[in-house]
Amino acid sequence: MAQYTENSASKPRILTGDTPTGRLHLGHYVGSLENRVQLQDQFDCYFIIANVHAFTTRAQQPTDIRQSVLDIAADYLAAGIDPGKSTIFVQSEIPAIAELTFFFSMLVPFSRLMRNPTIKDEIRDKNLGDSYSFGFLLYPIGQIADILAFRPALVPVGEDQLAHLELTRETARRFDQMYCGVDPQTPDEQYVRAGGLFPIIEPRLGRVRRLVGLGGPGPHGQLLKMSKSLNNAIYLSDDPDTIRKKVMSMYTDPNRKKATDPGTTENNPLWIFHETFNPDTVWVREAMEKYRAGAIGDVECKKKLVEVLVALIDPMRQRRLIYEKDPAQLLAVLREGTARANVVAEETLRLAKIALKQDYRPRTLL
Ligand code: TRP
Repeated sequence: MAQYTENSASKPRILTGDTPTGRLHLGHYVGSLENRVQLQDQFDCYFIIANVHAFTTRAQQPTDIRQSVLDIAADYLAAGIDPGKSTIFVQSEIPAIAELTFFFSMLVPFSRLMRNPTIKDEIRDKNLGDSYSFGFLLYPIGQIADILAFRPALVPVGEDQLAHLELTRETARRFDQMYCGVDPQTPDEQYVRAGGLFPIIEPRLGRVRRLVGLGGPGPHGQLLKMSKSLNNAIYLSDDPDTIRKKVMSMYTDPNRKKATDPGTTENNPLWIFHETFNPDTVWVREAMEKYRAGAIGDVECKKKLVEVLVALIDPMRQRRLIYEKDPAQLLAVLREGTARANVVAEETLRLAKIALKQDYRPRTLL
């Protein structure tokens, strides 16, 4: 690990990541992944695969979690994250994160945690009832530690993560005020300059906040978001044939029986997808007009969408194949990333312990 030294004069850092619950789909791509790929040159990027968090809901499936860790890593590389520029690492291999979690847990009132809307939604959506584990409630604190261990400037995430990022901002302020003597009146962007250890991080949302799925509306009439559990997703690892089948059978305007019927483009996944992914904006605008006038068929528009999505996804699938054929390469990327991540996280922990006045013994990870 000695070859990695932290260069504080270098680019500002980014930290973000995913809980390994399955392969990544187009919703992940436009919600955050695309942003990450684009920000790689400007920022020193750290991408965490939050495998410990996966145990909050899948403690009985360690084999699946391991597979999901490798799938997510392959998806990152496939989507264009370059391990030469960015650092991909596994949460459980970063001891400083677990240690910071414990300290941060003292700074967040239990009642505050229970008001977290992301936690409330998850309890409802995953039918956790009141049987969720203590660790499930602890995970937002773990996420604060994931983030603050890297003292990043920016955290690119999807909308569903904003509640956790707000908690992260509150905790950083509290720590800096309590242990670093930062005046509570200090503007957020001045905390580090005012002597704080932790920056008050900024969320960065993706181009699309909530991508709809391939299926029709849910019980309340609104289109459902793309998600693995709703079985309405196109994956970054789907082959052209699978993409074709999914698109050709996707939900469009249910009242349109033939190409000469006027169609509605509003709340129509076919057009939401074209507007999101088709770079030929002139074609999209004209085709939407024709669709509304009953002058173009669903099939033609779907075929066009297949082309667009295959052009986006197939290069990813090709890159993914390299790592699927050679899993050792994938593990090497994770190992190297983990070593780099530990350099930063250990330094943060060292500084945090000084601020906490609990610096008794310097240490180095082997
Ligand atoms: N909770 C995030 C999700 O489920 C994953 C995650 C873990 C994360 N640690 C993070 C995201 C830190 C951003 C920053 O998608």
